[in-house]
Amino acid sequence: MDPSTTRIQQPVMAAQDGRVTYPAVASVSDAPLTVRGVTVSYGEKPAVFSVDASFPAKAMSAIIGPNGAGKSTLLKASLGVIPRLSGEVHVFGQPIEQARDRIAYVPQRASVDWDFPTTVVDVVQMGLYRKIGLLRRLSGQMKAWALECLDRVGMADFADRQIGQLSGGQQQRVFLARALAQDADLYLLDEPFAGVDAATERAIIDVLELLKAGGKALVSVHHDLSTVREYFDHVFLINVRRIAEGPVETAFTTENLQATYGGRLAATHLDELSLARGV
Ligand SMILES: Nc1ncnc2c1ncn2[C@@H]1O[C@H](COP(=O)(O)OP(=O)(O)O)[C@@H](O)[C@H]1O
Ligand SMILES: [Mg+2]
Repeated sequence: MDPSTTRIQQPVMAAQDGRVTYPAVASVSDAPLTVRGVTVSYGEKPAVFSVDASFPAKAMSAIIGPNGAGKSTLLKASLGVIPRLSGEVHVFGQPIEQARDRIAYVPQRASVDWDFPTTVVDVVQMGLYRKIGLLRRLSGQMKAWALECLDRVGMADFADRQIGQLSGGQQQRVFLARALAQDADLYLLDEPFAGVDAATERAIIDVLELLKAGGKALVSVHHDLSTVREYFDHVFLINVRRIAEGPVETAFTTENLQATYGGRLAATHLDELSLARGV
């Protein structure tokens, strides 16, 4: 790892209240998502250790790393929904605790209880209850908005279905509709393409690209190395610790992938990558 690529600077001064602060770096402090020194542990061994990261505006960023590398944990810590042992998370320059309503989250599908008895349109509307301002809307308007978001992901016809009766790809689209309904500024997605067919993957990427064109920031855990160059602008490579980050062109290199995956990056993976690059 080249230390000069580290964009987060070290703390240099103590503010009046005794808290350690960081030198002002406009592009970092105003970034949609900035993580500094974040450590999360479920037991003795940290799942994420002292991670610094900064995700740029108006871009699609990928979080990449092997199974168990702490990708989902980093996303949950960025949402502020799991306790951090140390570190800070800022969203558009605000501490996460004050900025949660600017974030929409699409969880890893495997982590959701699909037997929960609820309809598709209710799942989308549930995403709205966090937005206090929206509670003042008439419930009829909320339902109309939920249906509009379902329509954007091609799921309007399924509004009254039980979520447990949907295919994996359809479930994923419903969670994307729920995120759309929240009309957030930062979208955090955990493996949105896992277990979906090619048509659904295309439909999801189209929606994400529209969000990006509308000025939103997207950060997605991504497992398919062969589509990174096509889908993403920025990558963050993690294996418990931060390995590398930067624009896809400079940071998504064989060297960084080997540092991230170690022996687990099979030759076939590298072949796939070469093919994706057309070399
Ligand atoms: N709720 C949990 N309780 C205990 N250990 C967990 C929990 N969630 C994740 N872990 C562990 O933390 C590590 C990182 O998990 P995770 O963030 O889900 O990795 P990834 O998303 O990269 O596959 C793994 O070793 C995993 O087993
Ligand atoms: Mg995960």
